[in-house]
Amino acid sequence: RKPVTINTLQTLYRKNEPITMITAHDFPSAHVADHAGMDMILVGDSLAMVALGMEDTSEVLMEEMLLHCRSVARATKGAFTVGDLPMGTYEIAPEQALESAIRMVKEGRVKSIKLEGGQEMAPTIRKITTAGIPVLAHIGLTPQRQNALGGFRVQGKSTASALKVLDDALAVQEAGAFAVVLEAVPAEVAALVTQELSIPTIGIGAGNGCSGQVLVQIDMLGNFPPGRFLPKFVKQYGNVWNESMRAIQAYKTEVKSRTYPAPEHTYPMPKDEFSEFER
Ligand code: KIV
Ligand code: NA
Repeated sequence: RKPVTINTLQTLYRKNEPITMITAHDFPSAHVADHAGMDMILVGDSLAMVALGMEDTSEVLMEEMLLHCRSVARATKGAFTVGDLPMGTYEIAPEQALESAIRMVKEGRVKSIKLEGGQEMAPTIRKITTAGIPVLAHIGLTPQRQNALGGFRVQGKSTASALKVLDDALAVQEAGAFAVVLEAVPAEVAALVTQELSIPTIGIGAGNGCSGQVLVQIDMLGNFPPGRFLPKFVKQYGNVWNESMRAIQAYKTEVKSRTYPAPEHTYPMPKDEFSEFER
């Protein structure tokens, strides 16, 4: 398929065709997402938890994001790639943010970057976009600010906070963002924001009135042990954990019982050679 560009995304938006986005954190997870035909692949800093076993996204370093971005970029032939700027690499000043964005493109090999924040990030978004790097904004629930938000809480439930979501959306659009992620906001608010904007909204926990949707791949694949907490908005489309468990346990059983490897998995030696060798 033809590689998705910023123009492809604009065309989808104009045609009112939903934009599909999923996270990936390494070569195999990007490979399958790209082959499945996703429009966009996000190297989210959620990889801190799902790929690196960290407690939250605040721990992941630029160098780690770059390594994961590069492996995703190598697998991605069709989808438009986005890399998350990790916490601490863009908040200090627009110049710092641009420097980080350039590293993501040059070393991480992604086509665009995502950063969290609304009105207060407008000068930063403008700085990066005018340097020629597309910016995906991220407002509503911004996980890097979980300590300031008092946890993972739905944003925009009151009139005042819904107005803040709208003001943030308008500000990031005005600053040049090519699209905006709306995370954990009431469907009514997300739909209204989508109507008010002239750039696509990508929803996660924001109802079906957005211009597109994003999910964390490992969550939607069900690639985690039973009993893990999942946010309300996650739909589990598969059960990769069960399939992996089944296969690995079957392997274990067959090794223990010497059923594996069977003759068809084995290299034989010609009989006459072996008798020579045996002597
Ligand atoms: O890090 C991430 O995976 C994200 C998406 C959930 C939007 O930011
Ligand atoms: Na993120």
